[in-house]
Amino acid sequence: MKKKRIIIVGGGEHSHLIINNLEDCPEYHLVGLTTHLDSEISNKIFGFSILCHDRDIPELIKSEKIDGYILGVGVTHGMKKRKKIYSVVDPLISPINIIHPTCVLSKHARIGKGNFFEAYTKIAIGAVIGNHCIINSFSAVNHGQIVGDNVLIACNVSLAGKKIGSHTIIADGASVAFKVSVGENCIVGDGAVVTKDLPDGVIAYGNPAKIVRSVES
Ligand SMILES: CC(C)(COP(=O)(O)OP(=O)(O)OC[C@H]1O[C@@H](n2cnc3c(N)ncnc32)[C@H](O)[C@@H]1OP(=O)(O)O)[C@@H](O)C(=O)NCCC(=O)NCCS
Repeated sequence: MKKKRIIIVGGGEHSHLIINNLEDCPEYHLVGLTTHLDSEISNKIFGFSILCHDRDIPELIKSEKIDGYILGVGVTHGMKKRKKIYSVVDPLISPINIIHPTCVLSKHARIGKGNFFEAYTKIAIGAVIGNHCIINSFSAVNHGQIVGDNVLIACNVSLAGKKIGSHTIIADGASVAFKVSVGENCIVGDGAVVTKDLPDGVIAYGNPAKIVRSVES
């Protein structure tokens, strides 16, 4: 099998998780990473080099014959930062899906590009997932659930609802009840149980989850 030559754009802590999962994904050859900080160039992350600044990605694609990329930037700088980066990089190079072999992905689910589904995740029949989403270990996207773009589903999350809007974070151990929706740009706190629809741009937590305040824009 000819391996796809890929890069990770952004060398934050999230890139460590991707590197760890890639060890189990033989279809990809990780050429290296890129960074937004000149001072990080040539550093190594778990043996892989930070090859260049993000602004030099077009040259890197040509010189190293890169086939695809995935975002290595996590939640630290917020979901907007991720959006800003992928909006620039997507037109240059294809975002690829990294799906760990232990992810139970229904062949009747629809998924976009640039997604990262960690080990021991479940994507059920009829689920629809957009682009550039992260689904962390032991989380389940259940039957018919819709997930927008650039959504972060942390560990041990259960989604049995209707729709999760784009750029939303669902933190560890939270669950969204049957037929319930969460808006865009929301943060659902750790362990929350969302039993009623949440509008766009709110922070909510607790059981049952209550809106605490708006997300700062
Ligand atoms: C949800 C979140 C925005 C809350 O932040 P915050 O409002 O600054 O919360 P604070 O830490 O200041 O805590 C304020 C109060 O809310 C409580 N609280 C915070 N998160 C809570 C939660 N998930 N459930 C219940 N109570 C919570 C605190 O105990 C504290 O209570 P107190 O006033 O009685 O002491 C923040 O925890 C967050 O961003 N979580 C998401 C983390 C994430 O991105 N996870 C994914 C990692 S991959």
